[in-house]
Amino acid sequence: MTNVHWHPLLRAKKLRKKPVQVMFEGEKLVVFRTKDGIAAIQDRCPHRSASLSGGRVVGGSIECPYHGWRFDGTGVCTHIPLAEGAPSNRRVRAWSAREAHGLIFITHDAQAAGDIRGPVWDDQPKVSRILQSHAEATVADAVENVLDPIHTLFVHKGIIRGGGGPTNRVTLIAGIESGELVLRYSGEEQSNGLLSRLLERQRSYAISRFYRPGVVSLEYWGKNGLNLVTTLYFTREDDTHLRGFAVMTGPRQGGLGWLKAALFVPLMRIVIKQDLKIMADATANWDAAGRPPHAQGPLDLLYPLIQRVLDGETGDVAAQEVTLDI
Ligand code: FES
Repeated sequence: MTNVHWHPLLRAKKLRKKPVQVMFEGEKLVVFRTKDGIAAIQDRCPHRSASLSGGRVVGGSIECPYHGWRFDGTGVCTHIPLAEGAPSNRRVRAWSAREAHGLIFITHDAQAAGDIRGPVWDDQPKVSRILQSHAEATVADAVENVLDPIHTLFVHKGIIRGGGGPTNRVTLIAGIESGELVLRYSGEEQSNGLLSRLLERQRSYAISRFYRPGVVSLEYWGKNGLNLVTTLYFTREDDTHLRGFAVMTGPRQGGLGWLKAALFVPLMRIVIKQDLKIMADATANWDAAGRPPHAQGPLDLLYPLIQRVLDGETGDVAAQEVTLDI
């Protein structure tokens, strides 16, 4: 387990020659490509506060659109027009940035090394798709929304569960292992919703994981390996807004995997839209009430575990079990 937390900011294919402005943890950043890789620095020129993202990239630096000061990927001012040779100790804040798994990630850790953990997969040929969204929610609430099975009967009725036919007696076992929330499902060989019927082969079991800084992995295993993995990343724009990335990975299965991927995109857009709507409503009410503690019901196993993971608590938590007819 790595202690370096990488936050995805945008899809790699959206970052071309032009710099891009993104919000991250209450701050505006500008992200741009240099000949050495990706740069992410504060999007406010220290001279007269113009947005650097309105400028252009020159060599390895970004040029401010107001008076032309240039800053490299480490945030150091490398050039002041008409003042060649003048010493400059001006700089802006910089983050370590890297491209991986179709996304641009940043971290606060200036010395970050090693691989960025990506979606889990086995050795089958695969097909992947990425969707981006914006949510009004905290990370804890968004992660609970993704992991919680109960809301699928109401918010996603017919699409994820509740599509008619017999229900499944599902056993959920949830605990914390090595700093990650691990949720094991059994007894649901196929959920009674459209998504599972269209996209999965026979399911043997499912495992969901949540790890810092805001990554949820939903793994659906069949007898021949993984049927489907949906990995969701949540990046904090500020206290209320999140940028979300949903990465779907499925087996290629000849050409069938491409067809499933084509179906996944519109179905997931519907699911995401439903979640965004209910979370925006709940967050607005919660904010208006002054963010009181959430009331916990008898089936709300996950929220305290999510909080522990977010707080970086390292001790394991013994698994707890519930059985649901869903
Ligand atoms: Fe950026 Fe003047 S405001 S160079």
